[in-house]
Amino acid sequence: MRVIHTIAELRVGLRGITGIVLVPTMGNLHQGHLDLVRIARQHGQFVVVSIFVNPLQFGINEDYSKYPRTLEQDCKALEQCGTDVVFAPSEHDLYPQPQQVTVELPPVANELCGAFRPGHFRGAATVVLKLFNIVQPYIAVFGKKDYQQLYLMRQMTAQLNLPIEIIGGETVRASDGLALSSRNQYLNVAERTEAVFLYQNLVRTRQAIMDGATDFLKLERQVMEVLGAHGWRVDYVAIRSQVNLAEPTAGECSLVILAAAWLGQTRLIDNLEVLREG
Ligand code: PAJ
Repeated sequence: MRVIHTIAELRVGLRGITGIVLVPTMGNLHQGHLDLVRIARQHGQFVVVSIFVNPLQFGINEDYSKYPRTLEQDCKALEQCGTDVVFAPSEHDLYPQPQQVTVELPPVANELCGAFRPGHFRGAATVVLKLFNIVQPYIAVFGKKDYQQLYLMRQMTAQLNLPIEIIGGETVRASDGLALSSRNQYLNVAERTEAVFLYQNLVRTRQAIMDGATDFLKLERQVMEVLGAHGWRVDYVAIRSQVNLAEPTAGECSLVILAAAWLGQTRLIDNLEVLREG
């Protein structure tokens, strides 16, 4: 496995190599990321994992500066899962001048997480498009944990005719059900115990939908209330269509329940897909 820090060196290193699969990350890798690498291995001949904490996708009051950076540890884990190249560029290499050319996404990028993190998805899509152009993969793997991000990456790829297949990996969870996230380590012991309550409420809501509940506004409100009563500050709970993340039409069967909420200083997101009978 090679660890490459510059775009120039990467371009030379990848010359002539085909069948590249890219797994974009911000590092501080956990089993969720490593599972995407496993999926990448299954699909392509050559696996590139990028590690870059992208300033463009963080708001001014967000956790950019305290985001955990653990490159050495990440590389050890990646070596064991059969990564060929780790690409860990510097901020200066990726953004030698202010990034004024950005990706404009469909309006749904301003809903859900986008409503609470203005510009977040523009920043994420812009860096991903840059990484696609630098690495030139034919497949890229993203996690369903960031469901809206996965959807928007698919839209960007399709609408800009990028010759890249986007594969979605299932959310990897801790044994109690909490979705793995680099941000979980911000939680104190009491918060970590409480954190699974978000997932439990998504499971309960999924069951209610499978049992025939159709008043989605009511279901969303119930979860918001119950989380609020447990001390969470809820950004949103939303039941949407898997197909376009819009509010579902009456007969729509492929749904997803998405939520984002704060526990103390930590913002957690999670989602669950639901298939209901038509
Ligand atoms: P990051 O948060 O590091 O996540 C990298 C990838 O890992 C994303 O595709 C994310 O959905 C996936 N992932 C995170 N937790 C997961 C879990 N528990 N199970 C499965 N997959 C999981 O997402 C980003 O970085 C950035 O926005 C990025 C796409 C790299 C652009 O900067």
